[in-house]
This record gives sequence, structure tokens and C-alpha cells, in this order.
Amino acid sequence: MQPSEEVQRRRTFAIISHPDAGKTTLTEKLLLYGGAIHQAGSVKARKAERHATSDWMEIEKQRGISVTSSVMQFEYEGFHINILDTPGHQDFSEDTYRTLVAADCAVMLIDAAKGVEAQTIKLFHVCRMRSIPIFTFVNKMDRAARDPFELMEEIEKVLGIHAVPVTWPIGTMGDFQGVYHRETGEVEVFSGDSRHGADQVKARFVPFESEEIESVLAESYREKLLEDRELLDVAGDEFDLSKVRAGLLTPMFFGSAMNNFGVESFLAKFLEYSLPPQARQDEAGQVVEPTDPNFSGFIFKIQANMNPAHRDRIAFLRICSGKFQKGMSVRQAATGKEIKLAQPQAFMADAREGVEEAWPGDIIGLFDPGIYALGDTLYTGRKVQYAGIPVFAPEHFARVSTLDSLKRKQFLKGVTQLATEGAVQTFRRADGIGEEVIVGVVGVLQFEVLQYRLKNEYGVEVNVQPLNFTAVRWVVQTPQELTRLRLPSTARIAKDRQEKDVLLFESEWSIRWALENNEGLELSDTAPRGE
Ligand code: G4P
Repeated sequence: MQPSEEVQRRRTFAIISHPDAGKTTLTEKLLLYGGAIHQAGSVKARKAERHATSDWMEIEKQRGISVTSSVMQFEYEGFHINILDTPGHQDFSEDTYRTLVAADCAVMLIDAAKGVEAQTIKLFHVCRMRSIPIFTFVNKMDRAARDPFELMEEIEKVLGIHAVPVTWPIGTMGDFQGVYHRETGEVEVFSGDSRHGADQVKARFVPFESEEIESVLAESYREKLLEDRELLDVAGDEFDLSKVRAGLLTPMFFGSAMNNFGVESFLAKFLEYSLPPQARQDEAGQVVEPTDPNFSGFIFKIQANMNPAHRDRIAFLRICSGKFQKGMSVRQAATGKEIKLAQPQAFMADAREGVEEAWPGDIIGLFDPGIYALGDTLYTGRKVQYAGIPVFAPEHFARVSTLDSLKRKQFLKGVTQLATEGAVQTFRRADGIGEEVIVGVVGVLQFEVLQYRLKNEYGVEVNVQPLNFTAVRWVVQTPQELTRLRLPSTARIAKDRQEKDVLLFESEWSIRWALENNEGLELSDTAPRGE
């Protein structure tokens, strides 16, 4: 196959959702279609096993939840699909955000009864920053759902993106009949099966303008659909593929992942509308086409101890151009060093496997003896350096100290190492009042991960004392010295790991207060680039 064909058939996406919307279920069903697993374990069975196929770390298995994101790849109808898993539950972390930097598009999964929820909003905004296409799948239609017009409106209001339904649900009060495909005029008939969609089932399609429809849909449903259809045609946005691809319009689908309903037709449309890996611009403004014969990629995630027996770290590399071959030598942009990529790994649904070659859009795992940093670019040929991975503002903070003061050195080493990996962010007080290590995380579980890893890898037991801060803001511009600013008494001046000035706040209100009372003060919720 030509390099351009390899690129064209690749799709790399992440599913963004709020916990319990059905992400695990949907992922399982997609893998099922790809033949990557032969029977989707029902979610109940998964919970009984207490870990999903994407879990690796020992700590995850112990807890029965996924602490780190992972990657799953499979082939479907000639496409090579990479799903980047974004951790969902309390294990929400910066990794979740960073994974989105490696995705070319996103599937936004919404619980039909709940609508747009908090975590979805946060993840959506990261996707928005990058203008990637976002596809909406409204799940759990087999149960009583909210009015679909209302859901559309909510997406537009809360997320600020117009939604254009590709399919439309029939029967939303717990009496789900199926979906109407607006493009083809066919009804995909729902049949809830008692096997909870464990197997692949062939969907049944009946043209709406046919006699057969009468035996499928009762008159009241047909009338309602006619009404809805008219309203959509008159009041809804027109489908515009270029807007979809620019991330300005989200195509909307309805279905039930658990019943395996609407998943395959969604996948087909998703593959048709979404884009293969696109050209990327590097920091010097150089445009790198995916078909460029020179290899390039960047590291978006570093994960420690995936294999406790080997104490290894794995750096996740997203390939942007050229062909990757096992054993090839590349240059690390930040240091100029040459590195031989000897033990690359690909990620399958349930295992890691050696990889011989890979293409743009693919994610490979590199053995990391401690040489890589987040955001590193690796390349061959002329120099390429992609922009660093943004640092996202943590929302939970704690004062972390070692229980044994003799181990302070080890403690600082461990905390620094975990911060380098991007597992946590560290700050130090900079108001001249005492020395302390403040750790900030995006999801509270990271505190436990920090405690666990400091104990297991550095032999240090720590005390984690939660602080009331809920936000950090980087100082972009200040009218005067930070100590002379008028700040709420609960705010604190600190420095981040790169010695950049930050302010810690307890609420949105205090951020606003600080801005209102200090003319010329400019704050940002992501760290300046180029870390
Ligand atoms: P997550 O990864 O997004 O957190 O969600 P997950 O797939 O684990 O699904 C959460 C719950 O929602 C599961 O119920 C799952 O069976 C259910 N679910 C997923 N898709 C559908 C769907 O299309 N229809 C319905 N009715 N349910 C769906 P569970 O394991 O039984 O847990 P719970 O319901 O007891 O909380």
C-alpha cells in the first residue's frame, strides 16, 4: 500500500463523555464490529471482573477502575481505527485532556436522559481549542429520554456548537421504536435483544415512504415523525460537511450502545465524515504533511510502571508524518540527540504487542528509560518541533509533606519525577511565608496515585492535606509586584515548577474580584506554552 493510502484509511479519535453515559459499552461495541474482540463482555461481566480490557496498571486492577488512558486499534471495512480512551470516573486527570491533543476527532457521548454533563463540557472545550470535528452520539435511547429538540438546544446553548441530526429517534418515552435516517429516508428498526447486544446483529432498515412501514410503526409514531421532520427541515441547521470537518457543526446520532443499536450505522457515517490525519504546523510555522516521507511525531503521555515487573515507563507517541519502522533512528528535537527506537509497542484491545511499522495517526508505545518529556518531538530529516502539550489548570490542591523528615530528599525527587511525567503539578509558596509543596491535580484520584507511587517507587510515605483552592491562574501580566496586588485574603501567590508566577484561588468569585480590583492584571487558565 502507498503511504498516502495508509494515511487515508486511518482514523484516530477519542470518546468524550461524563461517567456512566456508556463509554465503555460503546467502545466494546465498536471493538466488536472491528472483530478486535469476538463478544462484547456485557458491562455487568466487566464489572464482575472489576476491570475493563483497557486497564493495565496493578493499581487499576485493585481498584477496578481505569487510572490511565489507553489506546485501542482495530481494522474495519478497510479502515484502520485508533480509539484513544479517556479516563472517566474519579480518575479524571490531566492525561484525559492530553489524550485529546493526540486525537484527530472526537465522539461526544451523551446520556439521553441527562443531556450535557459537567465532564463532557470540560472535555468538549479542549476539543474546541483544537477545532477538531466532534460527533455526537445520544445514548440510552431504549430508556425514557429527554426531548431530542431540547437536547439539541442544550448542546447549542451550553457548548456553543450547532447540532445537526443525521438520525432522529422515534419513541422517546421508554417506547423506543428506532431511528429515522434523514439522508436516506429509512427507518432503522429497534429490537431490544435480551443478550444486551453481546453479538453483532444486522440492522433492519425500512423506507419510511413504503407500505411496509405500517407494519413496523404505529400511526401515532408515523405522524409524530412527520411533524418532527418538518420542524427539523424548517428550523434546523443544514448539514454542511465542511463545517463538520472544521469543528463548527456536530452531526448528531441517536441509539443504544447496550443494545448495539445505531452503533454500526453511526460508525459508517463517522468514517465517511471524519478526516484522516491532517497536516500539522510546527512551532517554526513549517507545515508537515502526513505523507511527508520524513518521520515525525510527538509524545503526549508518559506512563510509569505499566509492567511492575520491569519498572518501565512507556512514552506514548502520536505519529504525524512518514513511516515508522522498528529499530529506526530518530532525533529528539529538544536535545538534538539521536535515539534508536528499538522496542516499540502497539496497543491492541487486550494486550500490548510488538510493532514493526506504523503510520500517521497511529500511536506507539516507546520504552522510556527516562529520556523523554511530555511534548517531545521525534523526527528524521529536517528538524521538526511541534508545540508543547498545554498544561491544564488543576482543580484540586493539597499540601503534601513527608512523614519522615529524613526522607525529604527522596520525597522531592519523587514528586519532581511525577510532575515531569505530568501525573501531578507542583507549586511552591512564593509569598515569603514558609516552604511547602503544593500539589495540584485535575482529578482527586491523582492524590491517591501520588501517595501510592511515592510509597512504592520511592519508599516515602506522605501526608496529603487538602487545601481549599479550586483554581490556579497563571499571571500573564501584572500592573505591579504580586505581593502588592489587592487579592482576596484566601488567595495565595505561588510559583509553578517552571518558576512561573501563579495565583491560587478558592472560587471563581475570588478570581473575578482580583481582576476587578487590579486594573491591568491578566490571568490565564493554561500555562504559557513552551514548557
Ligand atoms: P462509562 O464507561 O461511560 O462510565 O459507562 P458504562 O459503559 O460503564 O455504562 C454505564 C451504565 O450504563 C452501565 O450500567 C451500562 O450497562 C449502562 N448502559 C450503557 N449503554 C446503555 C444503553 O444504551 N441503554 C441502557 N439502558 N443502559 C446503558 P450498569 O453496569 O448496569 O450499571 P448501573 O446501571 O447499575 O449503574
